[in-house]
Parts: sequence; structure tokens; C-alpha cells
Amino acid sequence: MSAPAAVPVATIERLAEHAGKTVRLRGWLHHKSSKGKLHFLQLRDGTGFVQCVVFQKNVAPEFFDAVGKLGQESSLVVDGEVTADERAPGGFEVQVKGGEIVQAVEGFPITPKEHGPDFLLDQRHLWLRSKRQWALLRIRDAVITALRGFFDERGFVCMDSPMFTPSACEGTSTLFEVGYFDRKAYLTQSGQLYAEAAAMAFGKVYCFGPTFRAEKSKTRRHLTEFWMLEPEVAFATLEDMLELAEDMLVHVVQEVLARRRTELLALERDLAKLEVIQKPFPRITYDEAAAILKQHPQSTFRPGEDLGAPDETILSLKYDRPVMVTHYPAAVKAFYMKREPGTDKVKCVDVIGPEGVGELIGGSQREDDLELLLERIREEKLPEAAYQWYLDLRRYGSVPHSGYGLGLERTVAWIAGVEHVREAIPFPRTMYRMEP
Ligand code: 4AD
Ligand code: MG
Repeated sequence: MSAPAAVPVATIERLAEHAGKTVRLRGWLHHKSSKGKLHFLQLRDGTGFVQCVVFQKNVAPEFFDAVGKLGQESSLVVDGEVTADERAPGGFEVQVKGGEIVQAVEGFPITPKEHGPDFLLDQRHLWLRSKRQWALLRIRDAVITALRGFFDERGFVCMDSPMFTPSACEGTSTLFEVGYFDRKAYLTQSGQLYAEAAAMAFGKVYCFGPTFRAEKSKTRRHLTEFWMLEPEVAFATLEDMLELAEDMLVHVVQEVLARRRTELLALERDLAKLEVIQKPFPRITYDEAAAILKQHPQSTFRPGEDLGAPDETILSLKYDRPVMVTHYPAAVKAFYMKREPGTDKVKCVDVIGPEGVGELIGGSQREDDLELLLERIREEKLPEAAYQWYLDLRRYGSVPHSGYGLGLERTVAWIAGVEHVREAIPFPRTMYRMEP
């Protein structure tokens, strides 16, 4: 830029550090209104939004006129003095002294008026610039940082799992098949089986990456590509996982409250609903959940079956924090879960989030006995040969171990208080949408 070089570049997020000083901001015009000798610019720079006041007598006449013609999303650089303003969301505004227009544009497709979700999703590459998406995706970022920090502090090693896999982890019905040279491969549904191998090598591990499910459901909770964080711990029991999941969720919520308050407020999130997220979380068994649902007039739950989304909603609305439901029937859960001796139940947990957000976490203690695991693989008619490497983990130094998977987008949607998981990921993939 050719404007005077001595002006320090600042970001909107950190304007407080420059109170009373002149700084340079670089960004885009979010909104503009004009009144006689004044233009009020809502400038956004990625780190935040701030009002910049352009008073005719403070700037060159050409600049004043050019600013007056700028359309939404024009890009520009402004120099101005940072002044405190109690009414401003961030506590500051900028009194513009000069600047430069980088690109003047007109006709940005997303205007302040209401648009339908399909239109906005078609424009996702531009929709990301809206205040709501800005707030939401910065919350996602803080959730990721908090999660990684949580596991790092507790001595976990990050050990990522592959995306191309030869076999299923969570059942064959939702596998995406892809060509892999002259063979077939599947996109991973879960990194768990590989995390188990890593846990036998490194003790406490987690993997964190995209996972894929050919879910034919078009609910507000399902994506075909979503991110999952999966800890796996050697010598740990189901009980240990309940503790870990509880500590993790409390930590994440507290971190977001501390680091993304502006964003939560921009989304009009009820902070009281997050502040109550403290230990202990309610713990109930599947049988107890079944008894609650049986009493409920709206429930269509049938004993012995998995909990459906409406059942989870009924349960979640009974509590102000996540509820941990354990010991589901083996028949409705995955082959690798350890049996509760002498019962038809498994040592598993589903953590159901508050406010009807649905299942945030699924986890279990793993079957560590070679024969029992083999039996389950045969019952499920899974291709035995493909699981030989996994069975090796039970042949060589098998130990009790446990883990779980946290769905990132559902966690973000819950914390941010948005209805649909499709807004909780930068570029959502669903049954009906692969563009942009
Ligand atoms: O309960 P799930 O299927 O568990 C597993 O995949 C285990 N192998 C994890 C483990 O033990 N390491 O999925 C875990 C979580 C769910 O609770 C949910 O939050 C999320 O992943 N999830 C989805 N999120 C968005 N869209 C989908 N289609 C999802 N399917 C699962
Ligand atoms: Mg599950």
C-alpha cells in the first residue's frame, strides 16, 4: 500500500492495545450508512467487526467520495484513531483519517435481508464472511484448541489414523467406497481401530480428523463428512472414560466461555446454559433410560432397541448438563465393545448433550479377549482376514483398554447454540450437498 508507512497495522480483536493511537486496519466493508458529512463503515478484518467513522473534514475529498460509493464487501485499508465508545460492541470505534480502496465492488449476493438456507449454502464460500458464521467458526477453532490442549496436558500423544481403510469400524451400511488403484478402499468411519493399535504402543493416545459416513439421513445432526476426536487409553476401564469425557467437556466449555465470549454474545447464546456445565454429569443406564422413556407420552421407544433421536431429545431435556447413558444391549452396538459379564449388555457409553443436541460422544471399553472378539467378528459376518492385524493386538500383550469418539460439529453446534450441524463446519457435506 502506498499510504504512509509509519502507521502500525492493527487487528480489530486487539484494538484495546491501541486506544488513543492511530492505527491501520485492513479489511472488508461489512455494512455502510451515510448521513450528510459522515459515513459509518462497519469494517471486518477476520478478527472482528468495528465501526469506522469517516468525517468529511478529516479525510481527503476524493477518499470521502470514493467511500460513499463503496458496496458491501469492497476491500479497503483505513488509517484512524482508536477511540473508546461504550456503545460499540468491542468498546472502541475508529475515527478515520485516510486510507485506500483495494477493490470497490457492487452486487455482493448476500445482503442484510433474510435469505433461505439453500441459497446461503450455495453461497457458502461467501456466507463465511457473515457475522454469524464468523462467530460460529471461531468458536469451532477455540473448541479444537481446547481439546488438543486438554489431551496434551494429560500426556496423551496425538497419533492420527488413516483415511483410506480396507475394512469397516462402525458397520458396513454407511461405508463410502473409493477406487484405490486396482482395488477397493473405504473412507474411514472412525479412527478407533488404529487408535487401539497406537494405545498399545504409546499408552494414551488420541486421533483427530475427518471421518466419513454415507448417512442417508437428512437430519440436522448428520453430515457425511465430520470431524471426530478419539482418545484411546491402555489399562483404562469404562469408568475411566466417563471421568475423562466429563473433564474434557467441562474444560472445553470453560475455554470457549473465556476465549470466545464476544462470539457467543454475537450468536445471542444464553451463557447461563454454558456456565452450569460442571461436574458431575448425570449417569444412567440404558435400562434406566428405557424406564424414563416408557413413562413419556411422546416416546416411541421400544425396549431392546437403540435410542432414536427423539428419545435422546426427551432424555436431554430432563437435565441441564450432558447425560451419560451406559450399558446398552450388545445387539445394538458395535462388535468391539466388551460384554458386561453375565448380561446381554456392553460396557459402553453414549453422552447425550443438553438442549436436544443429540449424542455428542460414543465410547466403550474394548473386548480384549481374542476368542470373544473373534466370535463377535464372525457373528457380524465381517471379513475376518481384514481384521487379522486388529486381532494381533489381542494376541500380543492384550490389556483392558477403552476409548471414545467426540463428534466435533455436534459439540460446536451445542456450545454455540445453533440448530444444525451444517453451520458448524466450514464447508458442509451432506447427502444432498457437495458444493461449493
Ligand atoms: O458413536 P460413534 O459412531 O462412535 C464411533 O465411531 C466410535 N468408533 C468412536 C470411538 O469409540 N473411538 O460416533 C462418535 C460421535 C457421535 O457421538 C457423534 O457425535 C458423531 O461422532 N457423529 C456424527 N456427527 C455428525 N454427523 C454424523 N453423521 C455423525 N455420526 C457420528
Ligand atoms: Mg454412537
